Amino acid sequence: MILETPRLLLRPWEESDAQDLFEYAKDPRVGPIAGWPAHKTVQDSLDTIRTVFSVPYVFAVVPKEVGKPVGAISLQLGSNSNFPLPDTEGEIGYWIGVPYWGQGYIPEAVKGLLRWGFADLHLEKIWCGYFEGNQKSRRVQEKCGFTYHHTNQDILWPLTGETKTEHISCLTRQDWAASQP
Ligand SMILES: CC(C)(COP(=O)(O)OP(=O)(O)OC[C@H]1O[C@@H](n2cnc3c(N)ncnc32)[C@H](O)[C@@H]1OP(=O)(O)O)[C@@H](O)C(=O)NCCC(=O)NCCS
Repeated sequence: MILETPRLLLRPWEESDAQDLFEYAKDPRVGPIAGWPAHKTVQDSLDTIRTVFSVPYVFAVVPKEVGKPVGAISLQLGSNSNFPLPDTEGEIGYWIGVPYWGQGYIPEAVKGLLRWGFADLHLEKIWCGYFEGNQKSRRVQEKCGFTYHHTNQDILWPLTGETKTEHISCLTRQDWAASQP
């Protein structure tokens, strides 16, 4: 399935995207702050496409004017998410390559996913988290209408083996609908 926003296509990952994924996922400013280790080889990127990115619903973020993936966004439902959620709720996660920071691409992608999640999948709530200190991600969530819900102090994050504090925000279908023109 492909979702379209004014400047972006959100489409499934393909194995042939491995080199493009590696280009951005090798940068240590991207993965660790989102909870995954920087990729060391193109094979790491291919393995990620075959495993983590092959589940529903993980999308490549493809700016139309670029024509190739420069980031990723996911909507994980119920028990597929990092939170103990019922099937009527989901969690959004995202990142984008450093050269594309600050252009509002991820807020645009999140808003596209919110529309799909609430209007088409009829979800009740969508959640989003960020690690303590990640002000860029906090801003994305604010700009997309999420509000602070709770904090998980000092949780062990298995992918990196680090202990982190995570702030969790939430958007309900009612609040999302009320914000639509
Ligand atoms: C967080 C992230 C997804 C934001 O995506 P984006 O498309 O750049 O989002 P925006 O353009 O709305 O920028 C968000 C904020 O980042 C900051 N920012 C923008 N460009 C920046 C740059 N070049 N350097 C540092 N900070 C920058 C600004 O504070 C901006 O907020 P503002 O619009 O109020 O000024 C992106 O920075 C990223 O991938 N970071 C690394 C991975 C990550 O943190 N993922 C989220 C895990 S919860």
